[in-house]
Amino acid sequence: MPFTTERLVLRDVTADDVEAIHAYASDPEVCRFMVWGPNTVDDTQAFVKEQLEVLAADEGKVVNKLVVDASGLVIGGAEFRVLSAEHRRGEFGHVYRRDRWGQGYATEVARAMVAFGFDELGLERISATCDPENKASARVLEKAGLRLEGHMRHHLWVRGQWRDSLLYAVLSGDQKA
Ligand SMILES: CC(C)(COP(=O)(O)OP(=O)(O)OC[C@H]1O[C@@H](n2cnc3c(N)ncnc32)[C@H](O)[C@@H]1OP(=O)(O)O)[C@@H](O)C(=O)NCCC(=O)NCCS
Repeated sequence: MPFTTERLVLRDVTADDVEAIHAYASDPEVCRFMVWGPNTVDDTQAFVKEQLEVLAADEGKVVNKLVVDASGLVIGGAEFRVLSAEHRRGEFGHVYRRDRWGQGYATEVARAMVAFGFDELGLERISATCDPENKASARVLEKAGLRLEGHMRHHLWVRGQWRDSLLYAVLSGDQKA
């Protein structure tokens, strides 16, 4: 099901989206803090195939949406993952085309992701991680209401080196405060 924010539409991946996704997934600057990429065309095709399989399985644990602007351009993607239904925990991540950075799009979608997790999925806790050097992502998480909870040393092995991560989270009660 697509859903909308003030300026954007979040919709499922289709088989026709390989080129639009590849435009940002192949950009080294976009992928600098991601665990994947920069993608080859094969990588992006495999990602789209995997997303179509996830959609067909319809398990509802992972919601991976493409973010589309008013002109119809795919400007990025956002993923929401239920980590534990029992403990009502979820997390989200985001990636955007470089030529669309700095326009508040990630913040707009992050706020929608938080609302989705609490209001639609009934979660108690929503978290996100980012590289300590990824100041823009940290700022987006803060603007979406997440608080810094910790610095995880050597959290990820990425392209031949250990990377630390900052852990951010928001609780359902925090929102109302
Ligand atoms: C991180 C990312 C999602 C941010 O998207 P965006 O649409 O540009 O974010 P927004 O415009 O909503 O907000 C960016 C905020 O970061 C701030 N910012 C940007 N670069 C910054 C920097 N180097 N230092 C401090 N703040 C910075 C902006 O000023 C803005 O804050 P403000 O509104 O208070 O001024 C985007 O840059 C991206 O896709 N990066 C590549 C993928 C990635 O790293 N994903 C996150 C993985 S954890």
